Order: sequence, then C-alpha cells, then structure tokens
Amino acid sequence: MHEQILILDFGSQYTQLIARRIREQDVYCEIYPFNISIEKITGKNPKGIVLSGGPMSVYEEASPMIHSSVFELGIPVLGICYGQQLIAYLLGGEVDKAVKREYGKAVLLIDKSEDLFNGVSDRSVVWMSHGDRLEKIPENFEVIAHTDNSPLAAIKEKKRKIYGIQFHPEVVHTEEGKKILRNFLFNIAKCSGDWTPKSFVSEAVMRIKDEVGDGKVICGLSGGVDSSVTALLLNKALGKNFKCLFVDNGFLRKGERKQVEETFNSHFKIDLQVVDASKRFLDSLKGVIDPEEKRKKIGNTFIEVFEEESGKFGRVDFLAQGTLYPDLIESKSFKGPSFTIKTHHNVGGLPEKMNLKLIEPLRELFKDEVRKVGNELSLPSEISGRHPFPGPGLAVRILGEVTKESLDILRDVDEIYIDEIKKANLYDDIWQAFAVLLPVRSVGVMGDSRTYENVTALRAVTSLDGMTADWFDMPHDILRKISSRIINEVKGVNRVVYDISSKPPSTIEWE
Ligand code: XMP
Repeated sequence: MHEQILILDFGSQYTQLIARRIREQDVYCEIYPFNISIEKITGKNPKGIVLSGGPMSVYEEASPMIHSSVFELGIPVLGICYGQQLIAYLLGGEVDKAVKREYGKAVLLIDKSEDLFNGVSDRSVVWMSHGDRLEKIPENFEVIAHTDNSPLAAIKEKKRKIYGIQFHPEVVHTEEGKKILRNFLFNIAKCSGDWTPKSFVSEAVMRIKDEVGDGKVICGLSGGVDSSVTALLLNKALGKNFKCLFVDNGFLRKGERKQVEETFNSHFKIDLQVVDASKRFLDSLKGVIDPEEKRKKIGNTFIEVFEEESGKFGRVDFLAQGTLYPDLIESKSFKGPSFTIKTHHNVGGLPEKMNLKLIEPLRELFKDEVRKVGNELSLPSEISGRHPFPGPGLAVRILGEVTKESLDILRDVDEIYIDEIKKANLYDDIWQAFAVLLPVRSVGVMGDSRTYENVTALRAVTSLDGMTADWFDMPHDILRKISSRIINEVKGVNRVVYDISSKPPSTIEWE
C-alpha cells in the first residue's frame, strides 16, 4: 500500500484543491470529515495530517473541533487558516478577531527559512482569506513568518512537527504555495512520492481481482473517459469475466457509436455488446418539454434497457461504475442534504433493482487523474482528452421536444463547432464546448428569399470540475468562421448566438 496524507475537512471551499495539489506531487491523500475518530486516523497510518481551512471561528459554539490527542500521534501536522487557529486554540495559544479582516493578496516575510520554508523567497505573495487571526502562540511554538497584518502568519513546534499557516498555499495566487506544500510532504512528513498512474493501475487491478474473485462484472460503457477507463481496468483485471454494454440512446454525437465500437471491440478486444435503443428512447420523449421530465424518462428507459440486455448475459454479480472522488465527497453522506438542481443521469437505481454489488475502481480519483490513468492504459487521446458529455446527451441540448429532425440538425452543428475549435487548437483550452438547439425560429434572408428557421446557441466554458464555470473568451475570428460554416452548411439553421453566462448563476447545460 502506498503512503498517504490525510486531510481533515473543516469546511473550506479549498479543501479539494489541497488534495489535488498534494496528489500533483505524486503523494496519495484522502479527505475526511473533521470528526473522524483518532482510531480511524491511526488505522490509516498517514505520513502527515493536513487540517483544512473553514468558514467558522474557533470560539463559536458549534465550531468544528478535533481532539488534541491528534497532536500526540507522532504524525506531522500542517494547519491551514482555520487549521492553524485550531492548533493554537487547542494547544494553549490565543485567537482573536483580526484587527482587520484579510481577503486577498499579502506579502509573506519569512523569519526562519528552514524546513517548511526551505528554498522559499524571503518575500513572496500569499493568498489570505480569514476573519480571525492568531494573537498568541502556544508554548514551545515559534513564529516562522509574518505579514503586515498577521505578525504570527506561520508557526511551528519543531519537536512534534506541528506547523500552522494563516494563508492558503493551495491557491494559485500564493506564489510559492507549491514549494511550501512540497516541503511539508517531503522534508517534514518524509513522503517519497510513490503514487503515480502506473502504481495506481497495478494496485487497482490487484484490488479488483481481490474483490471480485471469480464473480462476473458488467459495465455500462458510455464512451466518456470515466466509463472507458473503468472498463479498461476491469478488462485488464478480469478478462473473460467482464462484459460491457453500450446503450445507443440515439442522443449521441455524430460518429460516436462507431468510435466506441472500434476502440473497445476492435482495438482493446473487450467483450462489448452494443444495443440500438434509439427508437425506444425517442418514443419515450414524445411531447415531453419539461427538462426534469426528460431526464427522468431517459433515466428510466436506460434502466429498463440495461436490465433487459444484461439479463441475456446470464449470471452477473457486480456492476462497475465510473464514480469519481468529487462525486463521493459531494454525496449526501459526506455533506448535508442539498436541493436537486438537475437529476443527473447515471445508473442510479440499477444496483438495487438488479441486486448487483457495485464496483467503483476510480472512486479515489479526480478527473485529471483519470485522464492520466487512461494514458497509462493506452486509451486513445481522442477519448481520454474528451470534453465531458452528459448521460442524456443531445436530448438536453435540444430545448423543447426532441425529434429525429432536431437531433440531425444539432449533430451537424455540433460537428462543425467542435471541428473548428480543434482546428484552431482551442479544444484543450476549453473545459467543455457544445451547441444547443433553441425552440425558436427567427427570420433571415438567403439569396433573395426570406428564411424562417432555427436558432442555435454555442457554449464553451472553462472550469476545474464543472461545479463552477466561466464562459470561454472565444476569439472573434473563430466565432465568425464557425457561425458562417454552420449557417452555410446546416440546412434549417439561419442564426447562431454565443452564450456568455457563467455558472453560477447559470448552469453549464441549458437543461
Ligand atoms: P450543469 O449543467 O449541471 O453540468 O452545470 C455540470 C456538468 O455535468 C454534466 N452533466 C451531466 N453528466 N449525466 C452526466 O454524466 C448527466 O445527467 C449530466 N447533466 C449534466 C454537464 O455536461 C457538465 O459537464
């Protein structure tokens, strides 16, 4: 088992970012709620513990706490922001409302440039985001850096290797953040950096074999990167006892089904069953306009088709799913209840209905890590580098009723759009790009005649994980070219608009 760092989450918006920054250094880490038991912590045998930031004040009644015995485990600790205040509070220091709240950049002046700050410049910009600040450090601690507004911006206790910093090293605005985290991982916690895509693959294969034994596993392949990598891992681990099902719901992009067949069947020699259920899906959407109703209908039809088709395989014990780490930490068991904004389509409901056990080999990974594992498994870059695509596909990109004609139009528009983005070398700079067909027609003129045709909207966003997103500043000459090609080449479209909304308050998809 590889070495690991534990991050205890006190509710900061940056907690996931800390995890990504640590993993970027080839050190495996996991996030746990702050109130995990000391036994569980020691059971994980971590090389180090990071206490995240958080929105509360340590003096508030309901503020999240840990037991101070965490500092007696002989495991190095790094407290960030609230984590630093907690160290001080629990070990006899003092925390107070800051003279002035500090949000944004500050200049960090290093007082002790060893261990945590080894090789870090004497003055560098850091990102602050806090209300409270340290007033008095605990006994045996020393101050190792300060800023104008925070004289105790970084502290340490050498003996127990406890470090606290007021600023956020995980945020890009902290110029030397990466170096500071590296110092904690490699100088202080003595990690070796043994977590790589290669080591992940060999461990995952071993774990799958262990878990499944001689059971049979089925996987719903969608052609997206998550299910593709899941399938490759299972195939590597199980060979004959693994089967894939690809349900063509008719809402795919042009050439998608063929690409999946070629890649997985011909190239990887995976036992892949392709089912054309497009008519059934389209029929189920007749007259349906409401986005949620659409999503539910598609989800239900998917479950029906999947159940019927997999029934033909004989005995199946496990269902493989491409669940990722953010899905897990965003899940209800981890966070409190939240409102449904959109019902996401996955195979939810299937495992219970079919009495299958779940196997989720990617549940510890972030999306960019899945891509790296995909590369390690020789997944073609057109699949591993692909923009996300929603389960209900083009059906949620056709506003209003979905028809065969509207699907054909949108497929043509989408193809031109993506083709031009790729030609302009912009595809990898954009997190997700797609076209939407609007349920309105507008007047145009072509040659000497009046036209009255469809409007299509183009969307392109930048994002880290789809939770928030910003619209992509597409160069105007590219937009001009795309618009002119779409209007000239796609019959039925006479107007193109570009979506300039960020998420929030908009969402990425239109439905
Ligand atoms: P929204 O529209 O909620 O989308 O801002 C965030 C990201 O999720 C994708 N998405 C889905 N993915 N099944 C999926 O697997 C779905 O039902 C689904 N709906 C939206 C969306 O494309 C974007 O990347």
